[in-house]
Amino acid sequence: MSDLEDVLRGVVGDQHVLVDEDLKAQYQTDWTRRFSGEARCVVRPADTAEVAAVVRACAEAGVAVTVQGGNTGLVGGGVPAGGEVLLSLGRLTSCEDVDVLEAQVTVGAGVTLERLQQHARPHGLDVGVDLAARSAATVGGLVATNAGGIRVVRYGSMREQVTGIEAVLADGSVVTRLVGLAKDNTGYDLAQLLAGSEGTLAIVTRVRLRLVPLLPARAVALVAVDGIGGALDLLAAARAGLPALAAAELFLSEGLDLVRAHGNLAAPFAEAHPAYVVLECAARTDPTDDLLEVLGECEAVRDATVASDVTGVAKLWAYRETHTEAISAAGVPVKLDVSVPLRELAGLVADLPGTVAAAAPGARPIIFGHLGEGNLHVNVLDAGAHAEEVTDAVLRLVASRRGSISSEHGVGRAKARWLPLSRSAAEVAAMRRIKTALDPAGLLNPGVLLSE
Ligand code: MLT
Ligand code: ZN
Repeated sequence: MSDLEDVLRGVVGDQHVLVDEDLKAQYQTDWTRRFSGEARCVVRPADTAEVAAVVRACAEAGVAVTVQGGNTGLVGGGVPAGGEVLLSLGRLTSCEDVDVLEAQVTVGAGVTLERLQQHARPHGLDVGVDLAARSAATVGGLVATNAGGIRVVRYGSMREQVTGIEAVLADGSVVTRLVGLAKDNTGYDLAQLLAGSEGTLAIVTRVRLRLVPLLPARAVALVAVDGIGGALDLLAAARAGLPALAAAELFLSEGLDLVRAHGNLAAPFAEAHPAYVVLECAARTDPTDDLLEVLGECEAVRDATVASDVTGVAKLWAYRETHTEAISAAGVPVKLDVSVPLRELAGLVADLPGTVAAAAPGARPIIFGHLGEGNLHVNVLDAGAHAEEVTDAVLRLVASRRGSISSEHGVGRAKARWLPLSRSAAEVAAMRRIKTALDPAGLLNPGVLLSE
């Protein structure tokens, strides 16, 4: 093997530089099977110092690096385009003691969200972000993509949880600011700049996170409504009447049919309805009465079922959380993740089927997502050879309604060419200047976020 692989072996040890095709395979394709690319080799460093040494070696050799966490991304941002060194952060699993006084914790980038939750909960604290891929998604990836998920309506996205960061820059130097001060106006906030930068500006290796109170009493309602108008009326009522509101999610009848067939789930109601909302309240004491009161007063509610025991809550959540796996089982979808102002949501949902059909006759849009943020996951099945046309048509429709072409999954490689639909020429130019300043040779995640 070449000099670079030898240097990398010297840094991380022989067994952590993978060059055999069968060993590299799992890193080279994303889990949805939509993105794949050949890595020159896969390198698995154990800590920040090793990441820095790997990056320095790659910079000296002029070889680009693709950074990967749990490989649960949905926009091809963690999969190589071809020829890069794939840097897997899965071994950066340090978990410092939970700081109960500050309600913060510092962990390595490779710690999974589920592990972090298990680490925090015995201390009466919890992570403000939660999402269905919790068992595999890693903290580094969550920060790099500014992941959202089901709790944004209450605690904001990943960016809002970050109070400090350690990261390796493109030249191998390390910036560390992990003290997690609640107030600190001493110049540019590098942690916030790196959150959502998709590994294009630096490689996040450790993160200090704000934790939230663990709220053990939960009540979940699955609510049937007539359509998006009804869902929004219910959202408004929940926001005003439920201080304990912790999630407000949406899916439509087509998604419910798919999920039921895939998971062999019973129908939640005697009759089918056009749209369904999952509301979750979380508090120290049982929030069921408040939830029932709001449901009882809201005219948009057509039917509802409520649970507060662990099994019942999990059963109701399954209708929403198994959408991704049920869709993947039905085929390889075009996955779009958009958001619009809430007032535009009903119009967007009404326009989507026609827009999709015009771009790909016979294609089936499955629409679900995070109601609280106007964030729809538009997954299109059976688009055949028209994936590009469907993507273009839907993203243009979203832009015409002042929306975002990537609400929470990031831009990755998949959406880079559509970035100008959501960002002005001046904004994209400013982003390129930041990229050039921090990574002048363009070695970190080339082709991700900013097209080449
Ligand atoms: C989810 O909210 O379930 C995921 O972000 C959606 C997806 O797989 O498109
Ligand atoms: Zn989502």
